[in-house]
Amino acid sequence: MCGIVGYVGEKEAQGFLLSGLKRLEYRGYDSAGIVTLANDGKATLIRAKGKINNLEEKMAQNRHKDNIGIGHTRWATHGEPSETNAHPHKAGSIYVVHNGIIENYKELKKNLSQHEFVSDTDSEVLAALIESFYKDGKYPLINAVVQALKLVQGTYGVAVVSEKAPEEIIVARSGSPLVIGIGHDETLIASDASALVGHTKRAVYLNDGEVARLTKNSIEIKTLNAEPISAKVEEIETNLAAIQKGGYDHFLLKEIMEQPKSLTETLRGRINSKNHTVHLGGPGLSETELRKINHLIIVGCGTAYHAGLLAGYYIEQFTPEITIETVIASEYRYRNAYIPKDSVALIVSQSGETADTLACLREIKKQGIKTIGIVNAIGSTIAREVDGGTYVHVGPEISVASTKAFTSQAVAMVMFGLTIAQAKGVKSATLRPYIDEIARMPEEIGNTLEVVRPEIEKIAKKYAEYDHAIYLGRDTAYPTAMEGALKLKEISYVDANAYAFGELKHGPLALVDDRFFEMTLLPKGVLYDKVISNLQEVLARGGHVIAVTNVEDFDMPVESIVKITTDIEIFAPILMNLASQLFAYYMTVAKGYNVDQPRNLAKSVTVE
Ligand code: G6P
Repeated sequence: MCGIVGYVGEKEAQGFLLSGLKRLEYRGYDSAGIVTLANDGKATLIRAKGKINNLEEKMAQNRHKDNIGIGHTRWATHGEPSETNAHPHKAGSIYVVHNGIIENYKELKKNLSQHEFVSDTDSEVLAALIESFYKDGKYPLINAVVQALKLVQGTYGVAVVSEKAPEEIIVARSGSPLVIGIGHDETLIASDASALVGHTKRAVYLNDGEVARLTKNSIEIKTLNAEPISAKVEEIETNLAAIQKGGYDHFLLKEIMEQPKSLTETLRGRINSKNHTVHLGGPGLSETELRKINHLIIVGCGTAYHAGLLAGYYIEQFTPEITIETVIASEYRYRNAYIPKDSVALIVSQSGETADTLACLREIKKQGIKTIGIVNAIGSTIAREVDGGTYVHVGPEISVASTKAFTSQAVAMVMFGLTIAQAKGVKSATLRPYIDEIARMPEEIGNTLEVVRPEIEKIAKKYAEYDHAIYLGRDTAYPTAMEGALKLKEISYVDANAYAFGELKHGPLALVDDRFFEMTLLPKGVLYDKVISNLQEVLARGGHVIAVTNVEDFDMPVESIVKITTDIEIFAPILMNLASQLFAYYMTVAKGYNVDQPRNLAKSVTVE
């Protein structure tokens, strides 16, 4: 979603602002803008609707050597995507970029009649409010920002500059991330550390309720109540290679193909292959605490939710007397759900910033329930607010559609389940097949990707004209089918929905006709014969079936077959999901859509 960058230093600010905004493109946006200030305070405001390239063209005609500036990519919430609604917003000498939502903007606007509003945004109200306290430079900028923010209800990550103070940037956050990069005679800001990579490794993450005054060589942080905060400098671990395409045409393909490596990182140091045990340090739960867990609640959105569903199916297979509920965060936050005291909540999020997931985390914590993060982005808000956690360590995921995170989230949660089972004294013979297969998964993922990729590229072309799809699976292949359908609809805009195979005759069977194709996941296992009967029902009605299976002698008369050659059995659905990921990718390429930045979607959804 919206992105923020800022620079104060000795170099030309425009350079960093542009490269930073490009780095944040993956988050999703529909307009962009920057403002820079000359030494005498003269401002240059450049904004453009659409892609950053449009902004870049305008910047090329308006080069400035200014050493301070702020920039923004906007994802429309209040007001359509347009140049006027793009940030920065101006009020008097003030310029503001803002992520988040000012909920009481209408009310605030009523008392700001001195300002002539030109946009439809809530963010312009914030600019006008700050100016009303700043009074054209009569008071320190930071004081004006603090006074304004005290009146604001909602969420914000905000950066403010003024023509009257061309040596400082004021930043603040409440619910929307901001990270400050410390360079040599320069200070940078970004809403996502990836924009800082290659500029500095030293960063300070702002916490909710904090405001900071930044100059080229100073950072002063305080709370909105004026309590000073000492800056905690952390290291940015991401390197440049991790945020570049590395020879692939798209980030999505790169991220699918790097899963052997990303899962290896998830497993590193956590599996003891000699004695077939799992050890997770991050959750910080004692053996006694683990033993006492009788209920798991797993919370996430989108792909993270699917990973939670899948992990839930596995964990209940081997953990005795445990109930597991996987919930969609946007629903759960408003439910009046009872959480038993012997519960632990797994909070699943790649970005660690998803607003609904974060709201659930806070709600669950209030009830005194232990929260464990299954997060990728290091230092993210969820990672910092949970009681303990297991980072999945898959590295930056740039493509909006999540792939490598899904695999690692699911496996990390299964490993958490295994630590509960170990503590509860489940026999090693029961757990060992799970642990041994997990240890072999990176290699098996590598083999599968290599074998199925060329095959799927061909198959996807065959189905590229379709606009409707049904994904079918049963047991652990059901959440996997849900995730496959989500991938396809997200990026290729095919109306794809997943159903449990057993539900077919309760409705979806009525859909089977020439407009639809059916992607069926058919792993070996106890339910295989039942699934084949379900498949027969689709075939008998002329279904256009693609079968993804690890059954060697599979001989059903389907239209297309993707064979997964592996001796992995328990986790075969995760290997099948690789096929779904590649299928969505090649369908999208064949349809000619934007793979990495699908329309209307954002990578990190920081608004409700
Ligand atoms: C957005 C992304 C999805 C992601 C979901 C949850 O919708 O486009 O790919 O699965 O948010 O994101 P999170 O960062 O919390 O895992």
